Amino acid sequence: MIVFAIESSCDETAAAVVKDQKEVLSSVVSSQIDTHVQFGGVVPEVASRLHVENISVVIDQAIKESGLSWEDIDLISVTQGPGLIGCLHVGVQAAKTLAMLFDKPFVGVNHLAGHIYANKLDTTLQFPLLGLLVSGGNSELIYMKDENSFEILGETQDDAIGEAYDKVARVLNLGYPGGPKIDKLAKQGKPIYKLPRPKAPGEYDFSFSGLKSGVLQFVKRMERNNEPWKMEDLAASFQETALEEIFTRVRKAIADYPEIKQMIVGGGVSANSRLREKVKELAAQHPDIDFNVPPMSCCTDNAAMIAIAGEIAYEHGRRADESLSADAGLELQ
Ligand code: KG4
Repeated sequence: MIVFAIESSCDETAAAVVKDQKEVLSSVVSSQIDTHVQFGGVVPEVASRLHVENISVVIDQAIKESGLSWEDIDLISVTQGPGLIGCLHVGVQAAKTLAMLFDKPFVGVNHLAGHIYANKLDTTLQFPLLGLLVSGGNSELIYMKDENSFEILGETQDDAIGEAYDKVARVLNLGYPGGPKIDKLAKQGKPIYKLPRPKAPGEYDFSFSGLKSGVLQFVKRMERNNEPWKMEDLAASFQETALEEIFTRVRKAIADYPEIKQMIVGGGVSANSRLREKVKELAAQHPDIDFNVPPMSCCTDNAAMIAIAGEIAYEHGRRADESLSADAGLELQ
């Protein structure tokens, strides 16, 4: 099956053509990051406008690069949610228009499912599976008993982990996006400062907003008291605390679900070097589980993963019609 897909849930306008959930015939990603840098984060209204400006070019390029024509496409897939509503609308309207124009079936899929299925470009998924999604918009721990079932074990109760990295970087005047900058700085420091880790209600849920405020209060307190402190040590302390917030839950899930065959990671924060080290440590402790952190091209937002999610949804009988609407809070089910 040859699937054409569109992704526009946040600040990347992307389109791709994927054959049989494995062969990426084209994958075009137009990032808006250079524009959002000047605002210190993604501005939703600006992001939607840029999607409107870019989407036709990206669609055109994806078809051209695939070497195919619209007649060869069997299915159109689009991110329906979750994400920024104005941004999602642009992709959904484009997909609907293409589906009607070329008389193709189409499906709306969940962005988070896409991040999980992105691992199919790098490995064979093995079920039951534990999925960890960590990005600027999401932090979720997901149990999948098979390819088409998602159980959210835990999720963030406030900020996503990437958002916490970005906000802490802003406090430290490091610029946007903050994740890679804190990651680099943390390598030169030691996690010697104790920062708060407020307890989230569910046993697998995360919370990052108290930690973010804790960093701000730490800086204010040190400056008020004229006490010396090191930015590198604060970056390392924040990073270790934030990742432990996640990894205590991951370790608990592995203990509670001994049948798990594989653990996969997705989302922009999976680029983090300390997170990758922690996954390696887990892999050494659990040789019976296959741990997979795919290359960054699969981890960050792209449309190839939406093509795979579309084909799987279609195989399981999902179809959309012209009433399909973007859904900013779309649940994974
Ligand atoms: O998945 P992604 O590209 O897109 C959105 O969620 O929009 O993730 C972007 C997030 C940003 O918050 C960025 O700061 C974070 O991923 N990130 C990192 C690293 N690289 C990117 N966080 C920690 N360490 C990194 N090396």
